Amino acid sequence: MHTSFQAIQISPFVYRVGAIDWALRNFHGYETRRGSTYNAFLVKGTSGYVLIDTVKKGFEDELMARIKSVCDPRQIVAIISNHAEMDHSGNIPYVLERIAPDAKVYASVMGAKALAAHFGADFHAIPVAPSSTLEIAGRKFHFVETRMLHWPDSMWTFDVEERVLFSNDAFGMHLAGLPCWYDEYDPAILEEESSKYFANILMTYASVVAKLCEAYPTLGIEPAIVCPDHGPLWRGDGIAHILGRYARWSNPLYRKNKAVVVYDTMWHSTEKMAYAIADGLNAGNVETVVMPLSGSHRSDVARELLDSKALIVGSPTLNQGMMPSVADVLTYIKGLKFPIELGAVFGSYGWAPLGAKALQDFIAPMAQNMTNPMTVQFVPTQDDLAKCRDYGEELAHVLYNGCTWQCV
Ligand code: FEO
Repeated sequence: MHTSFQAIQISPFVYRVGAIDWALRNFHGYETRRGSTYNAFLVKGTSGYVLIDTVKKGFEDELMARIKSVCDPRQIVAIISNHAEMDHSGNIPYVLERIAPDAKVYASVMGAKALAAHFGADFHAIPVAPSSTLEIAGRKFHFVETRMLHWPDSMWTFDVEERVLFSNDAFGMHLAGLPCWYDEYDPAILEEESSKYFANILMTYASVVAKLCEAYPTLGIEPAIVCPDHGPLWRGDGIAHILGRYARWSNPLYRKNKAVVVYDTMWHSTEKMAYAIADGLNAGNVETVVMPLSGSHRSDVARELLDSKALIVGSPTLNQGMMPSVADVLTYIKGLKFPIELGAVFGSYGWAPLGAKALQDFIAPMAQNMTNPMTVQFVPTQDDLAKCRDYGEELAHVLYNGCTWQCV
């Protein structure tokens, strides 16, 4: 195999050796418009090299080329697996079978079980205790269990001497790029992609993130570099920045008086209603984002919801229910467990308003407050649209003053 890929040295004894997936556009239902990276790291010890995580299957040539630019891969004496999901563990068997058969694999207690469940009962990883320190290849590594961030097996590894934290999925983002460091990217892109990653991958475990943010000062780690497994690495002020973002995004109180209006439409009636409701929300000083599902991806809806209190959803009645595009987004949002303070639904119908009823039934258990639906038969008149606008203004009033109107 001949490739030109090189490792990037990020500290005296640590190298980034992962792969860049420029073509990735879908990560289990999450639209990754800017691709991604699978970051893996090589740490030079006094008695060999330690590989931290690997890359997704199909990227093994790139991984091996980057490793070879640093050392003979047979010098790898250990692999630390921070997370068993296949974008990071997928090439552990390749490294063991083809390159370093005697390398020991270390993982969290749950990680050792998960790796065996992926690669067969014969696969043996050495379980490391939560909050323990081990010397591997002559270097000291401290392990922090981060269970449910975002899998039961997830952990962080801290290189004590180099002060490098390998944080796995945490603090990452799906962003392909050649530069290594966060300060080599446009801050607006980092904000967009890191918040999108949090909303789509970590939101469902926000309470666990909040606890970890609280406990962070007591963990005994003060990293100079933070290395997530996706996207750029953090250093200097960037570390406090991304930690602050995680504390904010995981705090339900952070949400602002913002509404996300999501809808699909058949003959533009529900669309007209959406625009009128949005106009009313805006008149009531609510920041409003309108997301037609003809062109808005579920993972972007999730990102917009990250700092929003209100979810307003519209669908015409189709086959006595809601449109499948709307059901798709709602199913996704439900799983992510956003703390929705106010829910509202609307839609046009032909002979029975069953689309709005289906929406109401779906959203009510997810929302702290729910208003009565706004429905219109067939095509909205000017009078109907004026009512939709009033409805939007009333929703704004509820957001600012609490639920004194129409809440059910
Ligand atoms: Fe990047 Fe949970 O895998």
